[in-house]
Amino acid sequence: MTGPIFRLGVLVSGSGSNLQSMIEKLHSGPAAIEVAVVISDRPDAYGLERARAAGISAAVFLPGDYRDRTGHDQAIADELEARGVDLVVLAGYMRVVTPALLKRFPQRVINLHPALLPAFPGASGIEDALAYGVRITGVTVHFVDEGTDTGPIILQEAVDIAYNDTVASLAKRIHDVEHRLLPQAIELIAAGRVGLSPDNPRKVTIRRHSPSASE
Ligand code: GAR
Repeated sequence: MTGPIFRLGVLVSGSGSNLQSMIEKLHSGPAAIEVAVVISDRPDAYGLERARAAGISAAVFLPGDYRDRTGHDQAIADELEARGVDLVVLAGYMRVVTPALLKRFPQRVINLHPALLPAFPGASGIEDALAYGVRITGVTVHFVDEGTDTGPIILQEAVDIAYNDTVASLAKRIHDVEHRLLPQAIELIAAGRVGLSPDNPRKVTIRRHSPSASE
């Protein structure tokens, strides 16, 4: 990849193992992609420590410091813009983002979900799939729209559920897939290969080559 660095703003609420995979595979790797800032709604999110350990700016925006969700998201969007972020990545960010942020980054906010959407949306995709008894679940990376886990799907990968799986054993296999699929989706977007179908704006298309690449 040539040209300027593609800058990520990563939002986390918890452990940040997916942030770690972005740091190792993208930020510290050969791709011209860097994590410009990590933002959390929780001061105790371990993802903040992972960011600092990698020398990446980390900031906390406590929801209680703002009048409402819109004010909170406006402040986060201001920070992301100030850092020159090209793509906002929700990686275990457990809040619904409002139009106050989405309108500032149109088609430039993506989310990682631990199930095959539209099945099992919400905050407990792994537990819900296991409790339902489906034999196959998986991982989804999608653009964020104003609904909950409803935006256009970029990549999905299936994970089989074993009859003796526990939440812990299934979560381990889901996370292994996430750590590969999310960086892959980001690389495709950074290469300009991901678009929306002109005749169906909720359907993602992936170009075979980046627009600048010679055939
Ligand atoms: C991931 O499994 C991600 O799919 C999930 O939170 C976990 C965060 O893990 N996100 C959601 O459930 C969003 N609805 P991490 O903090 O170790 O990256």
